[in-house]
Amino acid sequence: MDEKSLKTALKDLAVPRIVYYDEIDSTNEQALNLMASGLEEFTLLVADQQTAGRGRLGRKWVTTPGSSLAFTVVLHPKEEERQVMGFFSFLGGLALCIAIETHCGARPQLKWPNDVLLGGKKTAGILAESSFQGETLAGTALGIGVNLLEGSVPPLEEVMFPATCVAEHCFYLPPREDFLAEVMRYLIQWRPRIMSREFLHEYQARLALTGQRVFLIPPSTEEIDGTLMGVDREGHLVLELDDGEVRAFPVGDVKLRQG
Ligand code: BTN
Repeated sequence: MDEKSLKTALKDLAVPRIVYYDEIDSTNEQALNLMASGLEEFTLLVADQQTAGRGRLGRKWVTTPGSSLAFTVVLHPKEEERQVMGFFSFLGGLALCIAIETHCGARPQLKWPNDVLLGGKKTAGILAESSFQGETLAGTALGIGVNLLEGSVPPLEEVMFPATCVAEHCFYLPPREDFLAEVMRYLIQWRPRIMSREFLHEYQARLALTGQRVFLIPPSTEEIDGTLMGVDREGHLVLELDDGEVRAFPVGDVKLRQG
């Protein structure tokens, strides 16, 4: 993949600007910086390698040149969409799942909030970050990192959750730039429907661990045990606790409980 092949792959899509880096600290960081000067919706920043890729909850994200996909899409949430900012990262996960289903013939799942799993292992992660100018939202950087080809999977000791790559689960995989173009296609398709019932339905239909006993690790409190019921209309994770109480949680990491 290079700038030319990327632009060719994306030529039929409504992507106003494509910024390609052979190497950069983080495409999210660049998007957030550039937003100050104004970037249109669906502006796309792509890197072959990131030297300071970041993940959720302050974690590091590794992008291996030649085999990973790391990109950021600029979005401008409307006033009424700002109540459900979590849906923007759901959008990235859903677009990625549909691209894998349609073009690779595999069955991915979404681990709340937005990890994409294949065969129960993580193959992609999403990080949505927003930039403000004073009180005004300048835009949202929807960052998507995919372990696409063999060689992109980080070693076991570097990950919180077992990892895999898309290639390991597919008979056929399009070239990296074509796969990225397909993800963009579904992202653009679903973007206007982000507040719809259908959108949440499509997300829930792919939700991993539904009906299973899990524990949730919130960032600052003790882990919580429960059965995973789904997500509510705000995108929060709904658990039925062991005492029967049903509660929604806005943030955290989910793990399967053994036994
Ligand atoms: C996670 O699973 O914790 C989220 C990982 C998000 C990684 C992507 S790669 C492109 C963009 N740039 C970054 O620095 N992070 C996101």
